[in-house]
This record gives sequence, C-alpha cells and structure tokens, in this order.
Amino acid sequence: MRRTKIAGTGFYVPERVVTNHDLAKLMDTSDEWIRQRSGIVERRFASEDQTPADLAYEAAVRALADAGREIGEIDCILLATLSPQHEFPGTSFFLHEKLDAPEIPCMDLRAQCSGFLYALATANSFIRAGQFGRVLVVGCEVHSMGIELATRGRDVAVLFGDGAGAAVVEANDDANDPADILEIRLHAEGRHARKLWIEAPGCSLRPYRITHEMIDDGRIYPKMDGKFVFKHAVTRMPEVLLETLSAASKKLEDVDLFLFHQANLRINEYVAGQMGIAPEKCLNNIERYGNTSAAAIPILLAEARAAGRAGPGSLVAMTAFGSGFTWACALARL
Ligand code: UT7
Repeated sequence: MRRTKIAGTGFYVPERVVTNHDLAKLMDTSDEWIRQRSGIVERRFASEDQTPADLAYEAAVRALADAGREIGEIDCILLATLSPQHEFPGTSFFLHEKLDAPEIPCMDLRAQCSGFLYALATANSFIRAGQFGRVLVVGCEVHSMGIELATRGRDVAVLFGDGAGAAVVEANDDANDPADILEIRLHAEGRHARKLWIEAPGCSLRPYRITHEMIDDGRIYPKMDGKFVFKHAVTRMPEVLLETLSAASKKLEDVDLFLFHQANLRINEYVAGQMGIAPEKCLNNIERYGNTSAAAIPILLAEARAAGRAGPGSLVAMTAFGSGFTWACALARL
C-alpha cells in the first residue's frame, strides 16, 4: 500500500483580538461565565475586508512554504468549512483563484468541526489510490459573520472564532522516511443534525429559502442544544480515538501528542481525564482562538509543529466531534 505523509502545515488567524470583555459590551455575558464554561479568553475576528478565502490563502501559502512546494506542484485542493464565502461555488474556488492555481480540481467538504479530518481522509485515499500525488487540505472559518452577537445568541456566539489551517499531504515513497498517515476513522449520525445547525437559508424552506421573517426570528443563526452536544462529544471522541488506535495496532501510550477539537476546554479535560491521558500530552489553544470548527485541528497541528511539540517521527492523534453529528480520528506519524 502506498504511504502518505503530512509534508507541511501552516495557519493564519486574523489580527483583530476580541476578548470576553469585548463581547460583554455587546450582550449579557461575562468573562467569568465564558472562561468557566469553555476555557475561552479571547478569539480572533476577521477584519471588514477579509474574506474566508483570504484566511485560507494565508494558511495555504504557509503550508506550501513549510512543505517546500509551489502551488504548481499541487494536484488537488480540498477545503473544509461551514462558513462559506458564498452559497456557491465553494470557498475552494475562491482560494483556487487567489493561489493562481493551474487547472487542478478543488472542492469544498461540509463536515463541520470534523471537516478537516474528513478532508484529510479524502486526500489520503486519493493519494493511496494513485489519483493524485499531492493534495492541499485546508480548514477555514469566518464564524464572526454568522453568529448572533446579541444576548439572544449568546450561548453560541461566545464560543466561536475565525481562522484557517492547512496541510500539504503527499505520497511518501521514501522507504527510509517513517512518516505516514496510519489510520483515519470517520463517523456520522444524521439524526442529530438539528442539535447544532443553521436552518436558513435553506432549499427545504417554503415558500422561499430566505424571508424577512426568518431573519427576524434569528433562524439564520446557529442553534445548539449545548448539553446534548457536550454529552455526545465526551462519548464519541474517546470511542473513535480507541477505534483508530486499535485499527493501527497502537496503544494510547504510543501516542506522543493528542490534538482534540477545540470546542470546549472542559470537554478536552474531561476526555483526557477519563482516558488517563497526561495533560502534557495534549495541546489546546482554545483560550486564544475559541472554536474555529474545521480550522481548529490544522491550526493546532501547525502550532504544534512550529513549537517543536510534534517533531519528525512523532505519533500524533487528532480527534474531532461536531455538528452533523460527525466525529473522526486520524493517527499520523510525522
Ligand atoms: O464545535 C461543535 C461542538 N460544540 C460543542 O461541543 C459545545 C458543547 N456544549 C458546551 O460546551 C456547553 O454546553 C456550553 C459551554 C455551550 C454551555 O454550557 P452549559 O453548562 O451547558 O450551560 P447552559 O447552556 O445550560 O446554560 C446555563 C445558563 C443558562 O441560564 P439559566 O437557564 O441557568 O438561567 C443560560 O441562559 O447560562 C446561561 N447562558 C449564559 N450566560 C452568560 C448561556 N449562554 C450564556 C452566556 N453568558 N454566553
């Protein structure tokens, strides 16, 4: 079987820092509530002239530089997002334009907070099957444009931030290089789709996919059954992590670094505690960026590599849970 590797990573977050105190000026919330419930201290919001593709571009350029590659050496672009630039075409096409890519295919993948791992799995399979040699995988979100920055939307609005992360994934034909994406496991449970979603605009809605009433009623903003999502996250993440390790014939102790989706620090602390994973083997950055959905894991991975926390040869387990419901885990030797 052809092996694959993560050859380069990069991330970008907008410069504008929005603290919990800043949000408390817009809605009835407090720094104390947000920190206690989620661990978040601040997040980044895109500036008025920044598009999702702008963020994706910055992350992509850094990942390409890290891999020592040019866009002309990429065979396909996959972009995961739940906050697209436009209804269609996908954000990947606007990234394609910004990168001045040759006529290579690109596509968007919609698997919310597990989106990057779903895209990584797709890239991995494309490469192993021999269809492509090198794929640019990006996770990108501009949540600040989609959340309701008012008391009505506070339960969701305080959790999310903007950012992008990217990875260059390629075939590894060097027998002396142990780098490999060992295993990726993906899951979904569509019956819980409405537990965390944005309803409108939508082509199932009648008589129009968007109306003034839908806007007034806040149906254009994300809605979440927080406790229900929390319970599923702390169950599914350990489950899929153990499934992935078992499929790769690895043990928890073999893993050098655990990267969990950054939805809530309490979720990650609970999962690590239940599984007996030492805190120093986990990396979190939610206190600085909030939940950046599809961008969270690639940002974390890029930061880990840049900080020397995930050097060549190390075994990294990336685990996500999110809307859909979706959950996934990837085990990679760097
Ligand atoms: O990335 C996708 C995956 N997402 C997740 O994994 C998120 C999972 N869920 C969670 O992390 C937690 O459920 C939250 C952090 C979202 C909420 O924590 P909670 O302990 O479940 O709080 P709650 O929703 O039950 O709300 C408790 C109270 C309520 O007031 P009452 O009814 O007790 O009077 C809320 O109205 O806190 C109130 N509240 C707030 N207060 C201040 C809700 N949001 C806020 C807020 N500031 N932002």
